Amino acid sequence: MPFQSSVAPSLPSDRAAILACARSVGVFTEEEVATVDELFDGYLRDAQKSGYNFFSYRDGDAVSGFACWGPTSLSKGAADLYWICTAQEAQGKGVAAALFRAVEDAVRSIGRWLIVIWTSSRPDYQPARDFYLRMGCELVAQIADFYDRGEDLCVFIRRLQPPTSKSLIARSPRHPISKLSQSLSKLSVNFKTRHIDLLTAPRYTKPPGQRAGGL
Ligand SMILES: CC(C)(COP(=O)(O)OP(=O)(O)OC[C@H]1O[C@@H](n2cnc3c(N)ncnc32)[C@H](O)[C@@H]1OP(=O)(O)O)[C@@H](O)C(=O)NCCC(=O)NCCS
Repeated sequence: MPFQSSVAPSLPSDRAAILACARSVGVFTEEEVATVDELFDGYLRDAQKSGYNFFSYRDGDAVSGFACWGPTSLSKGAADLYWICTAQEAQGKGVAAALFRAVEDAVRSIGRWLIVIWTSSRPDYQPARDFYLRMGCELVAQIADFYDRGEDLCVFIRRLQPPTSKSLIARSPRHPISKLSQSLSKLSVNFKTRHIDLLTAPRYTKPPGQRAGGL
């Protein structure tokens, strides 16, 4: 039987695969991988309070990609996409596109309309910058020497239209995902039950000391 691929809120048991995925791509330092681990702790402890949500992309039992995002504090419409990552061996097959569309749907489902992404100008982030442009994001700001001398901050945004029934159907031309529409419906149910109801949730402040925005 072929494996079924799906995007869904990450399970506690996904931690090792998520960290392995982050290590496999070769662009993140150990400190950055440790930050993913910390954010995953916050997600498992209380996604609403921490402001960190994780999605995993599964092929059968194997996790081959993840995304971490959350509503932006003190904003009514924005959400941050902190990390998106596809394991080295799974790249080029539509994994990140499926994760990105799931984040878009989740952000819309909580009544927000803007995804903000911070990334680096380093050459090894060129695939990421190309990916964001391909996903319909726009580079709106670049701050020279932000991360380091010669390493700029690049800010991408993605403006979302209000939800339609069609937005729950995946659009990944190179990797059609079987039964993804059912998975995403399940996802939004899980999302509401696991994270209380974010539509009515009070505002919160992110814990101090976290880097605002992943790379
Ligand atoms: C960027 C990244 C997430 C893309 O993941 P992926 O699963 O390979 O991407 P997909 O296969 O879903 O590609 C989606 C679209 O982006 C484009 N894209 C992806 N990687 C690309 C690359 N290296 N160069 C140019 N375009 C690229 C593809 O052309 C594709 O569009 P298409 O379907 O119209 O051809 C992956 O390269 C990665 O994990 N990089 C390391 C981690 C990272 O930098 N993350 C971002 C910062 S947190």
